[in-house]
Amino acid sequence: MKKIIQSYIKLKSKFKPKNDFEFENANYNRLSLINRALNKYDQKKCKYLEIGLGDCNNYNSVSLDINNKYGVDPAFDSVNNIHGVKSDEFFQNNNETFDVIFIDGLHHYDQVLEDCSQFPNITLVVKDIHELDDPSAYGIKKISAVHIDVDIYEPTVSALNFVDKCEWDSIYMRFDDWHGHEPDYDFHERQACREWIDKNGYFINVMRNGLHGEAIVSKKL
Ligand SMILES: C[S@@+](CC[C@H](N)C(=O)[O-])C[C@H]1O[C@@H](n2cnc3c(N)ncnc32)[C@H](O)[C@@H]1O
Repeated sequence: MKKIIQSYIKLKSKFKPKNDFEFENANYNRLSLINRALNKYDQKKCKYLEIGLGDCNNYNSVSLDINNKYGVDPAFDSVNNIHGVKSDEFFQNNNETFDVIFIDGLHHYDQVLEDCSQFPNITLVVKDIHELDDPSAYGIKKISAVHIDVDIYEPTVSALNFVDKCEWDSIYMRFDDWHGHEPDYDFHERQACREWIDKNGYFINVMRNGLHGEAIVSKKL
């Protein structure tokens, strides 16, 4: 019996529990991202809006009281905070303000742009990454975080050149295809990053080195 327990403990110690930041291939699902965002607010006062409810699984699982959750979807009948209309119509008559919003209704370019434009604190720049203007043209000054998800080498180079034009001393960076989901996507974002670091003499502390990459890049040690 003792031997069995010892070998169980030995086996278990090889598989230490990992928190999700350490878990190599963790993909934060939409619910965990939404709940993380909501946790920053007073749960009793905070208001959540979901545009596009689908089967309502996500909406129902959001960890807030039902009175603090609002939904918009033309496929539903209107009841309580659920508005059975298209997002355009909802925004025409809406006076509420929301703390966290999940835009997942009509996934067309024009509609997503329209849905985002209802909120003055969201700036969405839709442009070819190779043809970006100076950051000041988009009102971008000092930056602290960058997420790169362009898959291949050339657009990563352009994205990193844009980052160079922004103001920063140290930034958190996430690369969606650091090692790539498949061989075709390997040696792209990671290679462009390595060349960028070497060319500029930046310092990089890679915190996650898997399918996705996370790093702190600094100009000084
Ligand atoms: C991808 S599903 C939403 C999934 C849901 N958010 C989830 O995470 O499970 C898209 C939903 O958008 C709704 N929809 C389509 N056009 C819309 C519009 N103009 N405004 C709001 N919702 C819309 C559809 O009826 C559909 O239920």
